[in-house]
Amino acid sequence: MDEITVSTADPIGTISPLLYGHFIEHLGRCIYGGLWVGDDEDVDTVGGGLREDTVALLREVSPPVLRWPGGCFADTYHWEDGVGPREQRPRRPNHFWNQGRESVPEESNAFGTEEYMRLCRLLDAEPFLTVNVGTGSREEALNWVEYCNADTDTVYGRERASNGRERPHGVTFWEFGNEPWGCGGRFDSAGYAAEYRTYAHFVDAYRATDFMDESSDLELVASGHSDPDWTGAFVDALDHHRLVDHVSIHRFIGGVECGSDADFDREEYYRLFSQVAELANDVDRTAATVENRGSMADVGIVLSEWGIWHPLAKHHNSLEQENTVRDALAAASVLNELNERADVVTMANLAQAVNVLQCLVQTDERTAWPTPTFRVFELYEAHRGNVALRTRVETDVREIPDGPDVPLVAASSSRGDGLTYVTVVNRSYGDERAVRIDAPSGSISRASVEVLFADQPPDVHSSPGTRGTFAPAGRPVDPESGVATVELPASSVVGVTLRP
Ligand code: AHR
Repeated sequence: MDEITVSTADPIGTISPLLYGHFIEHLGRCIYGGLWVGDDEDVDTVGGGLREDTVALLREVSPPVLRWPGGCFADTYHWEDGVGPREQRPRRPNHFWNQGRESVPEESNAFGTEEYMRLCRLLDAEPFLTVNVGTGSREEALNWVEYCNADTDTVYGRERASNGRERPHGVTFWEFGNEPWGCGGRFDSAGYAAEYRTYAHFVDAYRATDFMDESSDLELVASGHSDPDWTGAFVDALDHHRLVDHVSIHRFIGGVECGSDADFDREEYYRLFSQVAELANDVDRTAATVENRGSMADVGIVLSEWGIWHPLAKHHNSLEQENTVRDALAAASVLNELNERADVVTMANLAQAVNVLQCLVQTDERTAWPTPTFRVFELYEAHRGNVALRTRVETDVREIPDGPDVPLVAASSSRGDGLTYVTVVNRSYGDERAVRIDAPSGSISRASVEVLFADQPPDVHSSPGTRGTFAPAGRPVDPESGVATVELPASSVVGVTLRP
């Protein structure tokens, strides 16, 4: 039998709710068609053009933060195109992606800052804006901050009011550029440091002005690389560490060695979990790189894009792929790794919330439905704001040639409101396992268990017909002498609440 030991000694830190964040981009059917339909009569809308069904589903997972507008798109986006009367907004090429139902590489600008802020308010999510560094200007960035956060004594605060919003939007999180080493402008580390320094310098100055809404804190995010050498060289060249509150990286997993989205053999199945360990290593190496620069010891790591990117999700199909139970097991494995790093990771954003890549919600012309990954985010909500506890797992290991081995069972745990919450992933292909969960004495007399994917094979994927298929099922557990023994179906995710 496998063994999980939860320790209350030396807790890791508070799990920021922002670790369970999301991301939307002007890409494919993520926004146009998936979230925004304007006055399309086929589906009901809220907020003046947002799909009611998609918004209702997203509300069920309470996204704590929603990054926008990109992605690669962000470094060609001029925010002023997307405010004011919609019929007067310019149509522009989308330099990176096809989008919308017609799959055209065009940006109508129908969904802009006000529409995004309305979405955030409907979801009760923090906004997180990516500023255009690649083709934008410092002035444009400053004006966007003023538009979002300043009072109506300012030019852009007044413009916001004339667009219907008197009160500032209060945007805290600002990331400067997206993948500056790639689609964001092919900067080298020193080149991006020079850009970042001046953008952040001027935006930072806003912290001291009276025009800013008092509740608008600013937190500045520098865009790094999962290669710590690039990020380290950026940090060294920047030499103004006070201007950085967080450093972001992106990390996707998947690839031909993991097979296709819903078609993989056993070897390929396990390779995806081996890559989860590589993702976690990248976070650790970035954290170590940043920590080693003494004056940046307090800087947080933001995983501003993560998820599974299967080989067939390509430009021509707007990065759409089937979303399977295997993907959901990998998401649960990543969230366990993030909980374990709650002391250094300040935010993470799954790519992308709707229709694109490892999404939570998929849509067609008339309906919206949740993916297996949606269910994982629902199950893991109980960790948010808790204190992450050290969790030791003793289990068998699947050896992976040329990659980290895969422990068959992975877990994380946290404590809040007197309860201990343990999330366990059984990654064993086709085999049930049982686990003893041993927590500090006196902390278990009752337990409840919720199980995901008990009867679904790992390659089953969501579709309009699977709306209720992946919902959790409760199971009875009777702890004995402070130990809970839990059955783990093959390829499942289990949430265990331990009560004193
Ligand atoms: O999420 C899709 C794309 O992946 C984003 O536009 C880019 O930032 C990343 O490489």
